[in-house]
Amino acid sequence: MTDHLTIVTHPLVQHKLTLMRDKSTSTGEFRALLREISALLAYEVTRELELTTRAIETPMQEMDAPVLKGKKLALVSILRAGNGLLDGVLELIPSARVGFVGLYRDEATLKPVQYYCKLPEGLEDRLVIVVDPMLATGNSSAAAVDLLKAAGATNIRFMCLLAAPEGVARMKEAHPDVPIVTAALDKRLNDKGYILPGLGDAGDRMFGTK
Ligand code: URA
Repeated sequence: MTDHLTIVTHPLVQHKLTLMRDKSTSTGEFRALLREISALLAYEVTRELELTTRAIETPMQEMDAPVLKGKKLALVSILRAGNGLLDGVLELIPSARVGFVGLYRDEATLKPVQYYCKLPEGLEDRLVIVVDPMLATGNSSAAAVDLLKAAGATNIRFMCLLAAPEGVARMKEAHPDVPIVTAALDKRLNDKGYILPGLGDAGDRMFGTK
């Protein structure tokens, strides 16, 4: 991927996103939409995966057919909201390895604090897709990518549902080599670090907490 920011303007993505933003959408519907939209975003984030060929036999004849090249890719979910994006991506890429990074946002400083990290082995040889629905301040995303680079990852992409300009700028400054794929670039953050117009707290909306 060459662009730092890709906005997936596909009509299905945009329609589903509007339903997710609507505050009258129930928890169950929100989760189902997130699963569907994450598969569509995964389609975009994996668009340029490298291919090689494998010799196979169709019922008609032999052929060299395209297959994905290299090691299985790794998905890394930023807990807890990132988990809402995993199932949709795993439907498309069932053999992906999955890691988790637990970061909570200190509400006073808006800075990320790490409380959990479990990553697949061999990150240096894998495409690593970090998933988190909301790229808000960009502090947790940048910290998660710092951690992945320290663990050896060199080929990283970031997939989210909504991005704020502040978060995109923060990621571009900290990790210009990490392309971002999102369904929308919203207006701005409020003084609590929430995206406007946004969709509220993604974790609360998908798990029904407050
Ligand atoms: N995290 C969320 O869940 N929502 C926001 O708007 C910003 C960060």
